[in-house]
Amino acid sequence: MPAEPVNVNEFQQLAKEAIPKMYYDFYAGGAEDEFSLKENMEAFRRITLRPRVLVDVSRIDLSTTVLGFPISAPIMIAPTALHKLAHPEGEVATAKAAAACNTIMVLSFTSTCTVEEVASSCKAVRFFQLYVYKRRDVAAVLVQRAERNGYKALVLTVDVPRLGRREADIKNNMIAPQLKNLDGLFSTQVESDKGSNMERFANQTLDASLRWEDIAWLRSITNLPIIIKGILTGEDAIKAAEVGVAGIVVSNHGARQLDYSPATISVLEEVVHATKGKIPVLFDGGVRRGTDVFKALALGAQAVLVGRPVIFGLAAKGEAGVRRVIEMLKNELELTMALSGCPRVKDITRSHVRTEKDRL
Ligand code: FNR
Repeated sequence: MPAEPVNVNEFQQLAKEAIPKMYYDFYAGGAEDEFSLKENMEAFRRITLRPRVLVDVSRIDLSTTVLGFPISAPIMIAPTALHKLAHPEGEVATAKAAAACNTIMVLSFTSTCTVEEVASSCKAVRFFQLYVYKRRDVAAVLVQRAERNGYKALVLTVDVPRLGRREADIKNNMIAPQLKNLDGLFSTQVESDKGSNMERFANQTLDASLRWEDIAWLRSITNLPIIIKGILTGEDAIKAAEVGVAGIVVSNHGARQLDYSPATISVLEEVVHATKGKIPVLFDGGVRRGTDVFKALALGAQAVLVGRPVIFGLAAKGEAGVRRVIEMLKNELELTMALSGCPRVKDITRSHVRTEKDRL
């Protein structure tokens, strides 16, 4: 029997052994040279900690809030596509794990369980991630369904005007299955003899003309708070604050879109400064350790989202695997806070990390 994983990274190998290579590559891979994929993680290694001592750390409180919703720790589940390729229970298993860990799952627009199935299996706070298709009515229907089913916020992903070039998927002839939320709305089948059908499907359907002005359209069809996911510059963070969204996610889509986009942790501080505290900043990309969560919080993130580790946990051990992944990150964060002299989340400050910039 293989040894039980002792950290989140060890779930990756278990996932690789558990699922077909084509699906594993889809989950693990990034765009083109995968430079940003490696950088997302490497950039964390270039940040060190500045622990403080002789602080009472006999009790550590990880709890925090996101958009006013309380969660047990500043670690959320990022929207990722097609969970049934990892495990037969798909997003329902992931959502149950999120509820058990008392955190928020962002359900992907491109999920293999429906908005309704996930809602009925998970009473915890859930957010819904949105892509806007050329057919705006498709987005509108999904937004209404998310509202009706108690999702508490919309996470509008803005870094996919077209799909990034993921070469592993092209080589594997990766075919996306039917996207359950879209059943009956229009055909999700795309002819494909060779290569990945996902690129063609995405490029045929996604609205590449979406602009800042369109946030007003989205606001006109929903009362839910809107979070924009995929911000990498101070300039865009200022625009997001100007259009009055409820929050942003610093993200390069797990390095699956634009290769040579910066490691997300390397631009977090720029984005946080630009917002001047007007809107909350969430973060994702390369979070694999409690110390990574701590670093992101120190640089101004309110919470982090975790993508691949959750899928690897799901592939390896279903709902229990996802739970374990979140618990591991929570336990590591708790220890990091204790050893850094930060009993509460709000005690984690900029002075607790040393970045490359500080060394210049
Ligand atoms: C994603 N991501 C993503 N984002 C989104 O807004 N909608 C989606 O459907 C997906 N799908 C998706 C599938 C897979 C397999 C991956 C790995 C990622 C991006 C995701 O939300 C998040 O930004 C990254 O996964 C964060 O990086 P890490 O944690 O995977 O390093």
